[in-house]
Amino acid sequence: MSGLIDQFGRTATDLRMSLIDKCNLRCQYCMPAEGLDWMKKDDMIAAHEAIRLADIAVRLLGVDEIRFTGGEPLVRADLVDIIGGVHALHPEVDLSLTTNGINLERKIDALVEAGLSRINVSLDTVCPETFAKITRRDRLTKVLSGLHAAKAAGLDPIKINAVLLRGINDQEATELLTWTFKHGYKLRFIEQMPLDADQSWKRANMVTAAEIRDQISQTYTLSPHEEERGSAPAERFNVSDPTTNEVLGTVGIIASVTEPFCADCTRTRITADAKIRSCLFSHTETDLMDLLRDGSSDEAIADAWRQAMWHKPKAHGQTKTGLGMPGFVQPERSMSAIGG
Ligand code: GTP
Ligand code: 5AD
Ligand code: SF4
Repeated sequence: MSGLIDQFGRTATDLRMSLIDKCNLRCQYCMPAEGLDWMKKDDMIAAHEAIRLADIAVRLLGVDEIRFTGGEPLVRADLVDIIGGVHALHPEVDLSLTTNGINLERKIDALVEAGLSRINVSLDTVCPETFAKITRRDRLTKVLSGLHAAKAAGLDPIKINAVLLRGINDQEATELLTWTFKHGYKLRFIEQMPLDADQSWKRANMVTAAEIRDQISQTYTLSPHEEERGSAPAERFNVSDPTTNEVLGTVGIIASVTEPFCADCTRTRITADAKIRSCLFSHTETDLMDLLRDGSSDEAIADAWRQAMWHKPKAHGQTKTGLGMPGFVQPERSMSAIGG
């Protein structure tokens, strides 16, 4: 059995499977207010196809962790069946979910029962007005009750992904961090990437990792976290009180734009319409849907997947100078149709 290796010596063992492109929020950095032309149901992988792909990835390709994403994965009515199906085949594999938290309260117990081990929730602010501005929906309370329910269900760690937008929540980093300490969640800030459907991202306008560290350092002391970072996108810091030196918790910063980490990437992605993307910023995709539906064997699907990953570009943005720099062309799919 050979795994998902590429020309630059990397091996992908971390599968991110998008299950739907639809979402019940409209975050400015991702979707336009009016939504997008959603995929047709028949063009999306059915539950049994998602389970088969996960099984091929684990059994034939060496994948050892799977994250389910969207759009918003909880919008899929059969999410519990998919997680349950994969868990039944491979109970040793870590199954996690990236969600916006809406409807989590209602579904969390069934998800955990089915085999979900971890959850990451997107939350950019704890101010209701700012939340409504960023997501174009007044639903902060739903997200907070979803988070609370995840904690009550015993999930640990619960990570929060936050994107800071200039002029909207760029002054709220410390407030959000303090709030996560109080509630026991692990916060990571993600630099805004050019993956918005509106294509209005500008490098000069984004809030950088350096700026986030500076802002937090006005209130807390940051020091490097002792654990090896490995292939994790987030650089982690210990956060302590500058007067007592008490460590209050940690914060992660995912500096995809200003401090890219492509050389250590272990990720392979599949979209809800069964296209392999070797990189978030790929311009080419490998279709597995035809193979899934034309009677091809698991081994043939695994081979196509291996081929796709072999051609993974060395660095995202595929330019020497990086995202948003001369030569960079934004991928056609927005984040909601890739999954993060
Ligand atoms: P865990 O840390 O295992 O809980 O997983 P996670 O998948 O939430 O976190 P991860 O740190 O892998 O990803 C969080 C976010 O970081 C994603 O939603 C993306 O926005 C970003 N990210 C993840 N992988 C990549 C990558 O390969 N390239 C870039 N540019 N960004 C990434
Ligand atoms: N840049 C950075 N992160 C983004 N996300 C969505 N769009 C972007 C973007 N343009 C984040 C969401 C979610 C994860 C899947 O990706 O906040 O947590
Ligand atoms: Fe929905 Fe996530 Fe996109 Fe926000 S970032 S609109 S929550 S898919």
